[in-house]
Amino acid sequence: MPTLSETSPVTIPALFSAKGVERIAMLTAYDAPSAALLDSAGVDVLLVGDSVEMAVYGEPNTLSATMDSMVRHARAVSRSVKRALVVGDMPFLSYQTDPARAVENAGRFLAEGGCAAVKVEGGSRILPAVEAILAADIPVMGHVGLTPQSYHKLGGFKVQGREPATARQIREDAEALTAAGCFAIVLECVPAALAAEITREIAVPTIGIGAGASCDGQVLVFHDVMGLTRDLRPRFVRRYADLSTAIEEAAKGFTRDVKDGSFPTAEESFSGGKPTTLRRVY
Ligand code: KIV
Repeated sequence: MPTLSETSPVTIPALFSAKGVERIAMLTAYDAPSAALLDSAGVDVLLVGDSVEMAVYGEPNTLSATMDSMVRHARAVSRSVKRALVVGDMPFLSYQTDPARAVENAGRFLAEGGCAAVKVEGGSRILPAVEAILAADIPVMGHVGLTPQSYHKLGGFKVQGREPATARQIREDAEALTAAGCFAIVLECVPAALAAEITREIAVPTIGIGAGASCDGQVLVFHDVMGLTRDLRPRFVRRYADLSTAIEEAAKGFTRDVKDGSFPTAEESFSGGKPTTLRRVY
């Protein structure tokens, strides 16, 4: 029996009780129009990920994300959804330096960004920040395995937990985050067997990305799923559309019509007469 209603808003308690009953679908979202489409398509959770830096701004990693920019994207997303739970991804150095600062920054995602929860990367080392955020009644989603904010320490984007010691650390981190009170944990790029073991062990839903089929849910980056990233195709991505071709074809059509004068037509132009109120200018 599904626990997530198709019509009413997805809540933290509903997600929690979905574990073992119904798989959770999560995608990243960064702007209003795509968030509205993902929401009406029934995606359960929209993550305003710091991957916006790479997917939208063309940066080589996520380290350049700032609180102001993330909150602005979060606001655009949360204003556009009726059902999905919106989670704000806390950027690099917004929670690692000081628990009080972490609470203030997490609070901005709720107060200004309209999110229901925040996500942080890391395990035991960031527990003081996680505990402080949770103590302010701000729900927290954990994220272990490949943590992209550790890009330089890890030497790039690499599968984590292939050796017994790192696998043990990831398991312990997931357990510590669960014990602290996180409502879900993202497992990124870890062996499927390790993700399955953690999913069995912890009481909260695991959301996998490159972590195999046993997780309680799956998350992917919007631009990868929609085929907007042409050159980059990680093994764990399934592409459900080819928007890069569709956009290129549309842009070619527009350019052709402008050059040959077939756009705009008289119907697409104004004549004299009564004042007209435009439904939308920009
Ligand atoms: O920033 C992001 O998009 C993420 C997901 C890929 C989990 O952290």
